[in-house]
Amino acid sequence: MSEEIDLSSLYAMMRPKKVCLCKSVTESELVTAIENGCDTMEKLIDTTKASTNCGNCAGSVLVIFQREMDKKKSRIS
Ligand code: FES
Repeated sequence: MSEEIDLSSLYAMMRPKKVCLCKSVTESELVTAIENGCDTMEKLIDTTKASTNCGNCAGSVLVIFQREMDKKKSRIS
């Protein structure tokens, strides 16, 4: 029994997921920016430009920001 691999689906799964479609910002870019010192939403948005167009991604950007800041805090304490 063989399974055919749909390469376009495979590539789509491997492609980094964009959190902000307008500015083409991935979750890993947001995480990296936070790791590099963006400790406020304002700094994160200024640095990555995520959520500066339609704003539909603002909630997702905030969730990622809060999650990563919680991780940083737990590493410190
Ligand atoms: S999807 Fe991020 S600003 Fe539009």
